[in-house]
Amino acid sequence: MMAFKDGFLWGGATAANQYEGGWNEGGKGESVADHLSSGNVSHPRLITKTIEDDLYYPNHIASDFFHHYKEDIALFAEMGFKVFRMSIAWTRIFPTGEELEPNEEGLKFYDDVFDELKKYGIEPLVTISHYEMPFALTEKYNGWASRKLVDLYLKYATTLFERYKGKVKYWLTFNEINCGCLSLGNYMSLGILNGQTRDFTNQEDDVQLRYQGLHHQFIASALAVEACHNIDPDAKVGCMIAMMPSYAYTCNPIDVLGNQKNMRTLNYYCGDVQVRGKYPSFSKRLWNELGVELEMQPGDEEILMNGKVDFFSFSYYQTSCFTEDDSVDSTSANLIANAKRNPYLKESAWGWQIDPNGLRVTLNELYDRYEIPLMVVENGLGAYDTVESGQIHDPYRIEYLREHIKAMSEAIDDGVDLMGYTPWGCIDIVSASTGEMAKRYGMIYVDSNDNGEGSFARMKKDSFYWYKKVIESNGKDID
Ligand code: BG6
Repeated sequence: MMAFKDGFLWGGATAANQYEGGWNEGGKGESVADHLSSGNVSHPRLITKTIEDDLYYPNHIASDFFHHYKEDIALFAEMGFKVFRMSIAWTRIFPTGEELEPNEEGLKFYDDVFDELKKYGIEPLVTISHYEMPFALTEKYNGWASRKLVDLYLKYATTLFERYKGKVKYWLTFNEINCGCLSLGNYMSLGILNGQTRDFTNQEDDVQLRYQGLHHQFIASALAVEACHNIDPDAKVGCMIAMMPSYAYTCNPIDVLGNQKNMRTLNYYCGDVQVRGKYPSFSKRLWNELGVELEMQPGDEEILMNGKVDFFSFSYYQTSCFTEDDSVDSTSANLIANAKRNPYLKESAWGWQIDPNGLRVTLNELYDRYEIPLMVVENGLGAYDTVESGQIHDPYRIEYLREHIKAMSEAIDDGVDLMGYTPWGCIDIVSASTGEMAKRYGMIYVDSNDNGEGSFARMKKDSFYWYKKVIESNGKDID
């Protein structure tokens, strides 16, 4: 097994809306995540236009990083993190998205966080927009359906680049931008709320608006890349794609063709635009089939071409199968439409199919396709943990991470240029899909339950000590 390269970026990943809390402190405005109630696998989260008294909104307190950042960063440093993926809450900087001046208190909070990280030599990797745009922009413009959002995002991004120049070297423009290819992505990813939608897992969909919204995000992302390169030539900007790979369920060429289409439309469409600076050749047919008429402005093609990303980052949790045969069992994962169960794989308690080899396949495919540095910025196992006499034994999580690290090292041997690895929810945070706290990914336990009750004390799980050893040995000691 080849060693991970020197300077490999080991770390962990979070997002402000699921981790930070302090939802109405420090001048912060309400984000789309603040309007999502709690849920679980059988009860969907609700999207509410106002904050309703009889519902619980888990993202409001989340894991309270806002008041625990020093303690948490010290724990990350103890594990040996080289990098920490976090996001900035747009609403902490521009509470409604339209203020003329940014909120100084919000900017200062992140200055403090970056300074604390620097004390321990940890590089921040910052997602500019991770499922937390201002709710006011949903109400006023129906989110990214409007081109107006391009200017507002650019202003926000430019404010960050100018303020944190020299402090932040790695930026991601949009988290899992390809979630906009799914109807689930309407609200969380694009801030689009159609009709009387209330059920998060069953949103009223308008494909035209979604694809137009994605186009606006591509333009905004490209303009942000260009702005960042101008403001801080040393900084690198990446895209972030949710890789949800599928295999053809059978060798029937019909399934193989169907799967190729699924891979292109769900997994490659967005990355192709952001890496290559133009829409892929299959786009026209896709738009025709969906009945989408994309509105482009003169100059858009140049904008996309001038704003190509420097590296490709992605999340990877699971794979599924594709077949045209409806009688085949679907997975119970509630994220991907038409995902079929793979008889060769085990699944998590939430029905996500565990597939380390699929990560190697994915890394190889992506590197063949794009030939730019890759980074795995989310990966991990959401599981129920139990605390026994102050200890948390989580061999299932260690096994999941170990097998995926092995797969990464094999892919590096296959020739892939891999920059780093930030497993998801390195500390327990609120689940995006279900709003639960019980779906834990962390190596650090946070004492809080699905109703936000608890001391919020931090505890090290077995995986904490294991991951520390992995980092210390630069990925050699993974047993
Ligand atoms: C990704 C998101 O989809 O998966 C994260 O970028 C999310 O925000 C993560 O938390 C895991 O999903 P979940 O639903 O288990 O929290």
